[in-house]
Amino acid sequence: MDKSVGYGSAPGKVIISGDHSVVYGYPALATALNLRCHVIAALGEIGLEIAVENMSEGYTYSMNELEGINQGKKFSIFDSLAMLVTTLIPTAEIAIKLDISSEIPISAGLGSSAAVAVATIAAIADLFDLKFTKEEISSMAFESEKMIHGNPSGIDNSIATWGGLLVFEDGNIEKKELTHKMPLIIINSKIARDTKRLVASVAMLKENHDRVMGSLLTTMGTITQQVIIEVESGNMKKMGELMNMNQGLLEAINVSHPFLSKLIWELKEMGALGAKLTGAGGGGCMIALFESLDNSDMIKAKLMKLGVDVIITEASPTGVLIGRKDI
Ligand code: PMV
Repeated sequence: MDKSVGYGSAPGKVIISGDHSVVYGYPALATALNLRCHVIAALGEIGLEIAVENMSEGYTYSMNELEGINQGKKFSIFDSLAMLVTTLIPTAEIAIKLDISSEIPISAGLGSSAAVAVATIAAIADLFDLKFTKEEISSMAFESEKMIHGNPSGIDNSIATWGGLLVFEDGNIEKKELTHKMPLIIINSKIARDTKRLVASVAMLKENHDRVMGSLLTTMGTITQQVIIEVESGNMKKMGELMNMNQGLLEAINVSHPFLSKLIWELKEMGALGAKLTGAGGGGCMIALFESLDNSDMIKAKLMKLGVDVIITEASPTGVLIGRKDI
C-alpha cells in the first residue's frame, strides 16, 4: 500500500534494580514506562527535515550534509537520526520530514534518545512498508546510541524496542512477563548527572576496597534477583523493601546526592512502598513505588514546590509500535 505518512512510537525506561552492579556482571531489571516518543515520517522536500514539538527551530540536512554525516566527530541526536534515515533509505535521493513529540524528559536517564531512534525506525518502516524484526530494530537503534553516547549498555534500545520487563546480565537479555500493575512516581531532580564519571568513581572505590566492594556488589546482585521474584509474584510490598535496601547500598557506594536522598525520604514519608535513585545517580531521577496512584495529585503538588519535575506513570508492556501496531 502506498502511503505518504508513517507513524512509529517507542517507550522510555527506568532501571528498577541493579544500577551500577550491572557493570560488574550482576543482573539489572528495567521496565518500559507508559511515557512514549512519537514520530511521524512524511515525504517532504529533498533532504531531511526534523521538527521537534515545543522547539521553535527545526533541523534540516541537505543531501550533501546527509552524505557527509559519517565524517563528523561529535554527533548530536539529530545527526544520529539523519544517519538512521540514510541507512534505512538507501536511495540516491532522500526527501523526508520527521515530526517528533515526546513524553520522555531528555537527558534524565529515562532512555529518551533510544526511544526517538526506535520510533524513527518504526515511522520510516511504516512509511515505506519495510519489514524488520525487533532484533533488527534494537540493533539499529544501538548503533545510533553508540554515535551519541560512545559506550551504552544496550538497556535503553532493548527496552524501547521490546517494552515490558527485561533482565540484563553479562550482555544477555531475558524478557519477563509484566503481570501486575507497577504504579510509579518518577522525580527528575534536574541536577545534571555524568554517568561516565559516576561509573568511574565506583571503579575507583572497588580498586581501593576490593573485598568490601565485592560483597556490596554481590548483595546488590542478590537484591535484584529477589526483586525479580517479587515482581513476578506481584508482591509490591516486598519489592519496595528491597528497593529501599538497594538505595542504602547505592548510598554506600557514594552515587546518591543529598537532594536525591532528601527526595527519597520525602517520598517514603508520603507512603511510597520503596524509593531509590535510578540510573547512574549523582542527580538525575529517582523512582518511588506506590500501592496505587490515588493520592498522586496531592503528592505531585507538594513535590512541585521543591522545584522538581514529577512524573506519574507506570510500567508498560508495550514496546515499539509501527503504525500503531505491535510487530
Ligand atoms: O545514566 P543512565 O540512567 O543511563 O544509567 C546508567 C546505569 C549504570 O548502571 C550506572 C551504567 C550502565 O551502563 O548500566
